Amino acid sequence: MSRNSSVYFILWILLQVVKINCQMTPFKPSVHYRHTATLIDNKLYILGGSDLNDKLLKEFFYLDVSVPFNTQELSWQDLSNINMVLPHDSATTTKGGANNNTLFLYGGYSNDPKMPLVYTFDPQHIAWNPPKITGINTEIKYELTGVMNYNNGKFYLWSGNTAAGFPNNMLILDTINLSWEMGSVVNAPTSRCNYGAALLPNNKIIYIGGNNDYTITFNTTTLNIEKGTALTLSEVYFVNI
Ligand SMILES: *[C@@H]1O[C@H](CO)[C@@H](O)[C@H](O)[C@H]1NC(C)=O
Ligand SMILES: *[C@@H]1O[C@H](CO)[C@@H](O)[C@H](O)[C@H]1NC(C)=O
Ligand SMILES: *[C@@H]1O[C@H](CO)[C@@H](O)[C@H](O)[C@H]1NC(C)=O
Repeated sequence: MSRNSSVYFILWILLQVVKINCQMTPFKPSVHYRHTATLIDNKLYILGGSDLNDKLLKEFFYLDVSVPFNTQELSWQDLSNINMVLPHDSATTTKGGANNNTLFLYGGYSNDPKMPLVYTFDPQHIAWNPPKITGINTEIKYELTGVMNYNNGKFYLWSGNTAAGFPNNMLILDTINLSWEMGSVVNAPTSRCNYGAALLPNNKIIYIGGNNDYTITFNTTTLNIEKGTALTLSEVYFVNI
């Protein structure tokens, strides 16, 4: 080998080592729970949440689900460096907007009382914006599950939790007109947080379970209640939207 070609050969080896190193250091999230997950254009975006020590996080990353992936070694793509949302957890998100392609984040628990009610993320331009939303303004809620009606772009935000307790309201965010409305709570069940909710094909939202009392204690093995009275799972509630 000439001197020149051995220099090139060494450079080639170094390049391969750098390449392997890059491939072998995928993003390792520290988020453990209370994050949001939103599917847009075959990308699953994970935002916020807390780590195992309940520290609020500012992580933002996605998984491309249009290609096969290994559940033991997910190739998360990190976007945390462009995330402008304050560290938070227990928010709720949807896909929406005029293009039906924008991530809307509503609410969340943060340490900053000035956290905006809504943020939007545009995946096409990889850009965050706190949008200007007209209409009523309310206290920020967390520990709720928003439900999207894709027929009219409205995001239904019932009850949840606030610093002042469990709010008895149905906030509606129009993700197309960027306006707030207040829905009806006539015949609504007891206010609560951390319930399950989904839109049914008959255009009714179903709500089930949830919590309105943090003094209840239960056996972590059997889940049997030891003290207090929990909300029942043997009733479900419908809202006709
Ligand atoms: C918006 O996207 C949802 C989910 O991908 C889809 O079901 C719905 O039909 C879309 N809505 C409109 C108005 O395009
Ligand atoms: C959105 O705004 C337009 C123009 O102000 C209005 O005509 C339309 O009715 C609004 N849509 C909804 C769903 O409120
Ligand atoms: C939870 O229930 C299991 C099964 O009945 C019991 O063995 C265990 O002692 C209980 N745990 C506590 C902390 O009471």
